[in-house]
Amino acid sequence: MNYQYLKVEDRNDGISVLTISAPKTLNALNSTILREIDDYVSNIDLSRVKSLVITGDGEKSFVAGADISEMVHLGEKEGFELSKLGAGAFRKLEQLPIPTVAAVNGFALGGGCELAMACDIRIASVNAKFGQPEVGLGIIPGFSGTYRLWKLVGQAYAKELIFTGKMIDAQEALRIGLVNAVCEPAELMNNVFAMVGKMLRNAPLAIAAAKRCINNGFDMTADEAIALENVEFGKLFATEDQKNGMSAFLEKRKVMFKGK
Ligand code: HXC
Repeated sequence: MNYQYLKVEDRNDGISVLTISAPKTLNALNSTILREIDDYVSNIDLSRVKSLVITGDGEKSFVAGADISEMVHLGEKEGFELSKLGAGAFRKLEQLPIPTVAAVNGFALGGGCELAMACDIRIASVNAKFGQPEVGLGIIPGFSGTYRLWKLVGQAYAKELIFTGKMIDAQEALRIGLVNAVCEPAELMNNVFAMVGKMLRNAPLAIAAAKRCINNGFDMTADEAIALENVEFGKLFATEDQKNGMSAFLEKRKVMFKGK
């Protein structure tokens, strides 16, 4: 599929950079962009792409939310459909078996904050701003923000953010655990690539298993989550990477993981 609003850069280190590009509206998500994101994550070539980084075009905005001009005249059914479309795409993104990072280069508001939260890691530039301003428009977060935000920052702060609709800066987002790190805008992508690079030196099947345990374990009872970890742990002993990784340690040599 040729994308109207997405720029895809497949780097030779296995990192794919997906840039949301709708500069006239600060990269606001219209339904075409949501379909393009859905298409991209549904068809991602995991034999080549080992990590996905998502960012916004320009210096001002990551994604300024869902496109308000498209939503203004929607009825109940269309509102439901829009919520389902975005939430479905973001759920597929969340479930990719590779590390995903949001490089938040500016406004991450409403659906933009929700897109960042569907990634595993968020790294923000100092000029990033986060918020869920939907109640000021007469709606609520509709791309799973009412679910993911409290998982990340706890119910009290999630309710404060959603009920007040206030914007917070990158340092506050760091303090509450919404982002992993904050850096100067010029260093953002290099810092993201450095962190992803560290991840890609490790065993990919192990990372995928850890991601499944963390993502799925949250919604389980303690016994279920621990049982899931037992199973995932055991399965890794059927991989070449486990044999190779442990032998390399014992033989004091460097390891190159194969993802097998
Ligand atoms: C449509 C948007 C937009 C949006 C910005 N623009 N955000 N258009 N939808 N979400 C447009 C503006 O209308 C303007 O167009 C241009 O982008 C530049 O924006 P300005 O407002 O002039 O810039 P600035 O004064 O710097 O303010 C930046 C801003 C502000 C603080 C980010 O634009 C803003 O508050 N945007 C809306 C943020 C928001 O409420 N997001 C949540 C949406 S609801 P023109 O034509 O005038 O140049 C949502 C729900 C998700 O996300 C779930 C749905 C199911």
